[in-house]
Amino acid sequence: MAKQRHNILILNGPNLNMLGVREPDVYGFKNLSAIALECGEYAGELGCAVDFRQSNHEGELVTMIQEARGAFSGVIINGGAYSHTSIALQDALKILDIPVIEVHLSNTFKREDFRHHSYISAVAQGVICGFGAHGYILALDAMRALLDDAA
Ligand code: DQA
Repeated sequence: MAKQRHNILILNGPNLNMLGVREPDVYGFKNLSAIALECGEYAGELGCAVDFRQSNHEGELVTMIQEARGAFSGVIINGGAYSHTSIALQDALKILDIPVIEVHLSNTFKREDFRHHSYISAVAQGVICGFGAHGYILALDAMRALLDDAA
């Protein structure tokens, strides 16, 4: 049987628009547009479509999460620094009845203590961190498998 085509929302939080120039020793040299392109291509191979977005504003991210209801089969989110501070993002994600996967480029557990806790992890199916931009590809694979299992 042909696999169902799924729409996946990939959300990126503050400062991720600065990838490539922002602390490349931590985040690598790839910019967000290159990551978006790779995700789009890889999702196509998996039989999925992605909507890849970024915002520096917490409320805008909350709205995007709310609007994901009924429009997407899953959400992959790199909340950037809001992961460590935002109860609002956690509350918005809790409203969703679709799988959520959290991604971080860096291994946040190897870094400062304030990066060890994420409000998103508590409402995510799983967390991928420390694999750089490849983490988004791993998250797409994981999302495809989750959605297939749920079918
Ligand atoms: C990040 C990790 C966060 O701690 C940081 O604030 C970011 C990027 C990551 O992808 O490694 O903005 O989410």
